[in-house]
Amino acid sequence: MAVITEIEDLKRIYRHRVPRMFFDYTESGSWTEQTFRDNSGDFGKIRLRQRVAVNMSGRSTASRMVGRDVAMPVALAPVGLTGMQSADGEIKAAKAAASFGVPFTLSTMSICSIEDVAEHTAEPFWFQLYAMKDTDYTNRLIERARAANCSALVITLDLQILGQRHKDLKNGLSAPPKLTLPTMLDLAGKWSWGLEMLGTKRRHFGNVVGHVKGISDAASLGSWTNEQFDPSLDWHKVSKLMERWGGKVILKGILDVEDAKMARDLGADAIIVSNHGGRQLDGALSAIRVLPSILDAVGDRVEVHVDGGIRSGQDVLKALAMGAKGTYIGRAYIYGLGALGREGVTRALEIIHRELDVSMALCGRRRIDELDRGILYIPEDFEGHWRRR
Ligand code: GLV
Repeated sequence: MAVITEIEDLKRIYRHRVPRMFFDYTESGSWTEQTFRDNSGDFGKIRLRQRVAVNMSGRSTASRMVGRDVAMPVALAPVGLTGMQSADGEIKAAKAAASFGVPFTLSTMSICSIEDVAEHTAEPFWFQLYAMKDTDYTNRLIERARAANCSALVITLDLQILGQRHKDLKNGLSAPPKLTLPTMLDLAGKWSWGLEMLGTKRRHFGNVVGHVKGISDAASLGSWTNEQFDPSLDWHKVSKLMERWGGKVILKGILDVEDAKMARDLGADAIIVSNHGGRQLDGALSAIRVLPSILDAVGDRVEVHVDGGIRSGQDVLKALAMGAKGTYIGRAYIYGLGALGREGVTRALEIIHRELDVSMALCGRRRIDELDRGILYIPEDFEGHWRRR
């Protein structure tokens, strides 16, 4: 097997192994994919400040995210359909995260159910919630997450309606895949994936099937979202969900200073600066570009995390040095999962950890709490664009 030294290596193997519709689901942004590209492209515009002759012994990437000790402040982001990338994918990813010492976030749109993941992992995970029109169902999801001992609720705010991803529509994305001619031709070359899938019963949206009345087509993410997600979600409803949960809350999908202030005032434990990986509002600014102004506005009162475009430890370092207390990887770990299952998620985490550790050292810093903007060259328009107000 090819030597794996970087996240791109995992992506190459992933592309060959997993059916096209699931690879495309991962690799999509909405509409023109401008924001999807900007998320990672803008990390490349920030430069690091090299320092020398600093004692680099005794380094550590250990930190905390919402009160939880972490081996490095890099959590696994909630990703829909993970169990279609590799059989029982959510369980594999949760196990890899637990062994590595980072949080795993289970998506509402997962294949393995909350109960299934809880049964197969010892470490409490985080649960990501979408608010549904059917409030009883939403409330039951909260109760199920509580019963499964989830240690934080991540409420996603930027997907009340679904941004259009052309590839998913063209591919007829569904779980499990519908056997059309193009899908069957594609699957013929993906036999190791197919064999693995035949060996599991988990092939539908596990948090949905058997739990919701009246869904016409739970296999298709698009129709399910359009029919079931609550388009009337507002801050009042968000505060009700927070109250009902009563535990640690992370509000995900904040990209505006005014929204960040609302989240802070509601008493969120953390916010995730995010544009949903460029999958929702195409044309929105990249997450890393808006991060400094959000940190400056609310960073003293609420823990600020960020996701979107993080593919390396250097990206993580840049976000942390700006002031983020936590980062998330989505695609970077899905590449590993699709390529090599649980081992691939571990490899992705190891790659990012090593890049973070070495790059931090080369910037002359030994610990996460020693990081600050002094090690960064940030383009001027990253910090200044809010000042127009
Ligand atoms: C859903 O969470 C998606 O972005 O596909």
